Amino acid sequence: MSAPYRVGIVGCGAISRNHLEAFAAIPEATVVAVCDVDPGRARETAERWRIPHAFGSVGELLAAGVDLVSVCTPHPTHEAVVLAAAAAGAHVLCEKPIAIDLASAERMVAACDTAGVRLGVLFQRRFWPAAQRLRAAVDDGTLGRPILGHASVLLHREPEYYSAAAWRGTWATDGGGVLMTQAIHYLDLLQWLMGDVVEVHGYLGTFTHAIEVEDTAAAVLRFASGAMATLSATTAAAPSLGVSIRITGETGATAELTEFPEGTDGRVTILARGRTIDSEPAHPAGIDPDVDLATINGQLIPHHTTQIRDFVEALGAGREPAVTGHDATAALTILLAVYESSRTGRPVRLAQPAATPEGAS
Ligand SMILES: NC(=O)c1ccc[n+]([C@@H]2O[C@H](COP(=O)([O-])OP(=O)(O)OC[C@H]3O[C@@H](n4cnc5c(N)ncnc54)[C@H](O)[C@@H]3O)[C@@H](O)[C@H]2O)c1
Repeated sequence: MSAPYRVGIVGCGAISRNHLEAFAAIPEATVVAVCDVDPGRARETAERWRIPHAFGSVGELLAAGVDLVSVCTPHPTHEAVVLAAAAAGAHVLCEKPIAIDLASAERMVAACDTAGVRLGVLFQRRFWPAAQRLRAAVDDGTLGRPILGHASVLLHREPEYYSAAAWRGTWATDGGGVLMTQAIHYLDLLQWLMGDVVEVHGYLGTFTHAIEVEDTAAAVLRFASGAMATLSATTAAAPSLGVSIRITGETGATAELTEFPEGTDGRVTILARGRTIDSEPAHPAGIDPDVDLATINGQLIPHHTTQIRDFVEALGAGREPAVTGHDATAALTILLAVYESSRTGRPVRLAQPAATPEGAS
């Protein structure tokens, strides 16, 4: 095997653990440096994970010589890190959402294209075995062309979730609420399963959390195929009922994926006329739905690992990763259209198709 890719991780907060665990499981890559604007946090992380270098800035991390940068900082800071990494010739794996505005996302994609480096964005829920089964039911004709979709995202966040991190809950530093941070995963699944979105109508509300961004949202999506879907999302549910994604196809068959409690592997039910293809209980009895954030993030580690492994394999194979900067920009486009529609009270037509045809396989 050639020398492993030298990886630098930028941002040593909650989600960095998923990246550290993933790279620890991938022999073709080794984390050689971490950095955080809080240098003490970078040092602690480096000590705990036996990483040679800890820095207080991205510039120092890049100067140490890395082939691949994982971006685990708050959303509005992604762009500066991605642009610096691309300029230094490093491939980039960026946490979702790619950015909080489209111009920023487009600059990130363009910078990576110009530098000839790969850009991948974490949408690890595409890699759930359950999500793959749903996608297979679309691809193998069980559902036929999707005609109707629904994503129900009924989550719980304690008030401290927003108050403990200064960047959460404001338009300037978080870019949005439940849509930007949680429901974007499920918007991405809808576009991955149902195709390009061409029109969006949406509403936002802030009901129970002391934040300026939305804690609740509802939207109707129209797809290029003519299909339609609804999305409802909140962080105000108590307890959380988790997530349900349901797709009905033109054969009449329906596939449902349920994530309960939040963060656990999805369960699937697929019903076609005359047969049950899959049937797993959506909300098994006796399970406590109240899971804390560290547990939720921890349960996502296997799927982060699968996506990060795909990214490393893509570098070796000279191909695009399963989830590209274009895919992530498409999901952001849909989400920002919900915000615009809520502001104007009108449906928003998307200028460009909001999804690329390829996806995780
Ligand atoms: N894929 C997922 O399921 C998932 C789950 C959780 C979080 N995330 C994403 O990961 C990102 C980080 O979230 P988090 O929960 O880990 O946040 P966090 O607040 O726990 O950690 C962010 C860290 O970044 C550091 N930081 C801030 N600006 C920096 C900069 N310019 N350079 C270096 N370090 C900087 C902070 O000091 C902090 O340690 C967000 O974009 C979030 O949406 C993704």
